[in-house]
Amino acid sequence: MFPTDVESVSDANLNVYRIRGHRPLVGRIRAQAAKNAVAKQLVASLLTREPCRLYDVPDITEIDVVLDMLAEIGAACDRLEDGSVDIATPRIASTTVGERYSGFNRIPILLVAPLLHRAGTARVPVVGGCNIGERPIDFHIDLLRKMGAEIDEDDEGYTARADRLRGTVIALPYPSVGATENAIFAACLARGTTVINNAAVEPEIVDTVLFLQKMGALIQIDTDRKIVIEGVDRLSGARHDPVRDRIEVASFAMAAVATGGRLRIEGADQTAMITFLNTLRKIGGGFEVDPGAITFFRDRDPLDPIHIETDVHPGFMTDWQQPMVTLLTQAHGVSVVHETVYEQRFGYTSTLNDMGANITLTNDCLGGKDCRFTDRNFPHSAIVQGATPLTGREIEIPDLRAGFAYLLAALIADGESTIFGTRFIERGYVNVPERLASVGADIDVPAQLLARDRPVAVPG
Ligand code: EPU
Repeated sequence: MFPTDVESVSDANLNVYRIRGHRPLVGRIRAQAAKNAVAKQLVASLLTREPCRLYDVPDITEIDVVLDMLAEIGAACDRLEDGSVDIATPRIASTTVGERYSGFNRIPILLVAPLLHRAGTARVPVVGGCNIGERPIDFHIDLLRKMGAEIDEDDEGYTARADRLRGTVIALPYPSVGATENAIFAACLARGTTVINNAAVEPEIVDTVLFLQKMGALIQIDTDRKIVIEGVDRLSGARHDPVRDRIEVASFAMAAVATGGRLRIEGADQTAMITFLNTLRKIGGGFEVDPGAITFFRDRDPLDPIHIETDVHPGFMTDWQQPMVTLLTQAHGVSVVHETVYEQRFGYTSTLNDMGANITLTNDCLGGKDCRFTDRNFPHSAIVQGATPLTGREIEIPDLRAGFAYLLAALIADGESTIFGTRFIERGYVNVPERLASVGADIDVPAQLLARDRPVAVPG
């Protein structure tokens, strides 16, 4: 049904993009639905036996892998011609998530609670995702145990058992997106009330809460990062149009500003992007907000430098950081970026330096925000000295968001860049070469350069 599984994801998608820079991007782009909402909503559908429909599900490998994983558990998934996905799991066929999904993404650990609710047991492999730090799942395991799950850990994964999960008070040590979602999934059908303190309140989480509310869940998002869930006995099917992808919108917005172009991004939502829009305005990017769309362009030349600290919502997203650093290489003066969400999210900058950027990393916290990486010897602050012309070259992508940072670098570089490892981009962004070409980028996917014999880093 879905042609893509983990093996074929790491096997196929070995495309190479060739980009010749200095073309302003002008035109319209339609924002895709947020992968980080859709993936979780597909998981949420397991909480009912009844059919659910998600509209406009992005055709990206990350979602294909999730659908494949859910199909093994017993979900019947159907991608319709209009892009919707119908999904129904009338019975759980298997409570084991295959080890081949280990290391690919964060979804297996989110399957524990739905499987416990539906079948009383779950076996999931160790999880992975983009290689941007240690990414432990201790919060997930602790909260599931606190809600009554017995969990055994071994080198390959986790085995969980529970008769019925019970509501409790959870205090997350950090507002983790995944742990908050895990607690919500566990709490919806638990006995009693669950309070999640220090919860993440990202727009994608709120959107999943909206979907769950349609399914019959009782979830209250209170002030001060507190989410209160009253467990119900059953949930029903629902239809949902997922929130648009604010990471993708920001990525294309930065491409418009960086290339001196003008892009109207349909579906872009101002409320989800307040911090990004303020930041863009401060450095000289312009935007106009219309009903249902935001148009982005360069307002000042040269761009101004800035000090940014990444944070949980409503702060500056860690996933906006990488293309922003590329953009800041074109600002006149010294910019400082303090990454407080992940400890290893600047690895990609060495390639930007090879292209001509002047970026220095330091272990110091260059900013005043609370940071878990103080005195822990992680290079988690970057000093960007601009403006520096960039020169096209061969580039190997290390992870999804770094991938877009490199695309952006190639779009503004002198000469030609050949970008390998584009499967990371295809994991999260729909049809990037086609969409960039449609707004004027000089980009092609040369068949003769298919990177069959280049070294392939396994996702995660
Ligand atoms: N953390 C722990 N223990 C845990 C869970 C998290 O220490 O049990 C730490 C992480 O190591 C990290 C921080 O908490 O330092 C934040 O991690 P979080 O759990 O919030 O991230 P996630 O749920 O694994 C999601 C997105 C990421 C996005 C982050 C932050 C998905 C599938 N992934 O990851 O998206 O960067 O939230 O907003 O939703 C991407 O799309 O490229 C991507 C990496």
